[in-house]
Amino acid sequence: MNDIQKTKVTTLKDGPLMVEGNFSVKGIDGNILSTMNKVFLCRCGKSANKPFCDGSHKK
Ligand code: FES
Repeated sequence: MNDIQKTKVTTLKDGPLMVEGNFSVKGIDGNILSTMNKVFLCRCGKSANKPFCDGSHKK
């Protein structure tokens, strides 16, 4: 598998998980929330737009 096909997850200091690659994000209802090649997933629990980070971790 080359780097273009890999999906990479990076933990950002005191912030979200940055996910890059070829993937989709599904909600708990099974609907696709995102097919973007880069998303930031909340890991602090404060986001009003879960599972995505909305910057609330900075407050
Ligand atoms: S990690 Fe950014 S709002 Fe939770």
